[in-house]
Amino acid sequence: MAAHIIDGKAVSLKIREEAKQRAAVLREKGTIPCLAVVLAGEDPASLSYVKGKSKALAEAGMEGRDIRLSAAVTETELLALIAGLNNDEKVHGILVQLPLPRHIDENKVITAIDPAKDVDGFHPVSVGNMILGRPGFLPCTPHGVLVLLREIKIPLSGAHTVMVGRSNIVGTPLANLLTRRDVNATVTVCHTGTKDLIRHTLQADILIAAAGKPALIKPEMVKPGAVVIDVGVNRVPDNSAKNGYRLCGDVDPAATEKAGYITPVPGGVGPMTIAMLLYNVIQAAEAKV
Ligand code: GUN
Repeated sequence: MAAHIIDGKAVSLKIREEAKQRAAVLREKGTIPCLAVVLAGEDPASLSYVKGKSKALAEAGMEGRDIRLSAAVTETELLALIAGLNNDEKVHGILVQLPLPRHIDENKVITAIDPAKDVDGFHPVSVGNMILGRPGFLPCTPHGVLVLLREIKIPLSGAHTVMVGRSNIVGTPLANLLTRRDVNATVTVCHTGTKDLIRHTLQADILIAAAGKPALIKPEMVKPGAVVIDVGVNRVPDNSAKNGYRLCGDVDPAATEKAGYITPVPGGVGPMTIAMLLYNVIQAAEAKV
């Protein structure tokens, strides 16, 4: 039997609607929630993400301050820009789109952001607060996955979750969130050093693919009835597509026949990332009122 498709788009719209209502309350008090989005260079995927964020902010009655920089911007210039945004009381959140041009030290830039405005949840202070279970910003994609898992109402406590990927943006923080007491899952983290990946994935009640490798997870790697969350957003060349590529997840779509629940690409995890970003910007703005 084919899997139940988890409609991330529908769940994300509910969260965006809630953000819109909270933004309206803030506006009545004279505060317009504002996110500064900084993009250096013209990477096509980054441009498309940044546009999606601006549109979502506008629809929620929030301000998006788009800052576009040349790929040749120096690290010093970028750090000075961030210092200005940190001191700007009208700006509640700062998002620097990654990846940055190679001559810029990403860690230095992330660390320069005021933790009170770190709506990406990437600053070491935010990561530390998350690991310690203290209040703070949760990173958007991991938080979005958690919300989707809660939405389908399968028991998470005691579930064996297998995470494929250990990036700073998804795998590492999500593995951590899932082991928190309020979620209580057991987590195996697989990565490029893992031997015999299929032996692990077949154990998963919940299988999360965040490796950035198109169709890495084949149907035979999925336990029948498992929940499969596909975080992959890979652009693969496709001559029949208008723009020359199509989006492909980390999970082979044929796995739909084995899974109990599965997220589609696009329309699964992707829209949740933007929704949780709006949620964080509202949280940042409310903290200042
Ligand atoms: N690049 C890919 N995903 C993200 C994200 O969630 N935030 C930022 N800032 N850059 C990204």
